[in-house]
Amino acid sequence: MKPIQVGLLGFGTVGSGVAKVLARNAEEIGRRAGRAIQVSRVAVRNIDKARAAAPAAVTEGLAFTNDFHAIVDDPNIDVVCELMGGATLARELMLRAIANGKHVVTANKALLALHGNEIFAAAHAKGVTVAFEAAVAGGIPIIKALREGLAANRIEWIAGIINGTSNFILTEMRDKGAAFADVLAEAQKLGYAEADPTFDIEGHDAAHKLTILAALAFGIPMQFEKAYLEGISKLTREDIAYAEQLGYRIKLLGIARRRAEGIELRVHPTLIPYKRIIANVDGVMNAVVVQGDAVGQTLYSGRGAGSEPTASAVVADLVDVTRTLTADPGHRVPHFAFQPDQLSDLPILPISEVETSYYLRLRAHDRPGVMADITRILASGGISIDAMLQKEPAEGEQIVDIIILTHVAKEARVNDALAQIEQLPTISGKVTKLRLENLDK
Ligand code: NDP
Ligand code: HSE
Repeated sequence: MKPIQVGLLGFGTVGSGVAKVLARNAEEIGRRAGRAIQVSRVAVRNIDKARAAAPAAVTEGLAFTNDFHAIVDDPNIDVVCELMGGATLARELMLRAIANGKHVVTANKALLALHGNEIFAAAHAKGVTVAFEAAVAGGIPIIKALREGLAANRIEWIAGIINGTSNFILTEMRDKGAAFADVLAEAQKLGYAEADPTFDIEGHDAAHKLTILAALAFGIPMQFEKAYLEGISKLTREDIAYAEQLGYRIKLLGIARRRAEGIELRVHPTLIPYKRIIANVDGVMNAVVVQGDAVGQTLYSGRGAGSEPTASAVVADLVDVTRTLTADPGHRVPHFAFQPDQLSDLPILPISEVETSYYLRLRAHDRPGVMADITRILASGGISIDAMLQKEPAEGEQIVDIIILTHVAKEARVNDALAQIEQLPTISGKVTKLRLENLDK
């Protein structure tokens, strides 16, 4: 049978990885897909740079061009693989490929989180597939798990380490005492970071991925603009160390939780009990925990970024698309896991409505009555204390760190209490507040 013809848009970390994996495993992939999958054309800005990104044996058969539109308009291309990133030109090209009746495979979570509703509606109308396994958690097949393997379940919540760069930074800082900027530079060198690495460290990338996971888990439209996001750049070594003393690890978690009132959709540094497997997922590894009503908890872990781990997911999508080319579009696995006319209008809750536990670090003058004031304010806000740690003042210092872990409380109540605590004459500066998830049920 004639090979499937693939056009690649972009040949950087992921694009070159796709070409390498397809070349290396061509025979097995062909046996799985039922047809050979062949990259025929590749669009890049800089052709010399692209040729140098993979061995000559991989690049010599590829036709490179600077004309991105020529690929999406080429009648000989069956599947367009968008691996360039960005949300402007990539969106235009993807919509044009769809309009031309081509299937699309993408790793571009930013594009899907921002314009997914438009893109999937266009794909549905045209009867083509937009596959995006690589857009979330690199090589982990979490999209397939949510859309197919867990289809029997009512998903209650998802919690994931879904940004490899920030997990790599937190791990290297904790284990080697490395400086933030040095580890970020290393992550960029290894091809983990986004073109703009603030997307990684300030939580945007994780929120893009969480937006996609929530859409699939709850059958809701993509609503990135309603996600709460907070990155790792303000985390201090002290908080990381105190968390460890209390039996917790701090991870940048994406959390999507179904509540009767709506959906919590949030990304922030989170304390997780050390004994949970996910608390021990380090470096560039990602992990996603899914709580389903029938299956209970399932955990998916693997490399969340990098050339070939991401290519693994892209190529799996190419195999899937190849297999379904002859299937009736109305009976393919739906993009959002739920049928397009069955999406729910459950609202996304504001962060003030979120319910979770908290880690609070207060800087207090070492005087009698301080604790009584703090506990009175927390109690009057209905916030109960789970654990408390008071450090000895350093020599010659009058101010001590007090660390409090709370039971589950509503964020708005905690914020009110903290505003009152910060007014106390015995408290110095702002209270550090981190969220804590036990991930037990
Ligand atoms: P790279 O920067 O390594 O490669 C991007 C490629 O696209 C390059 O060939 C580049 O050309 C080309 N390109 C980028 N922007 C444009 C543009 N505006 N116009 C024309 N060409 C462009 O990126 P990655 O391979 O790392 O990432 C690609 C996509 O995959 C992104 O959406 C990213 O978020 C996603 N992703 C990345 C992962 C990773 O581990 N790196 C993991 C999962 C997803 P040139 O080099 O000539 O400028
Ligand atoms: N920059 C992303 C990360 C790439 O570090 O997780 C994978 O999506």
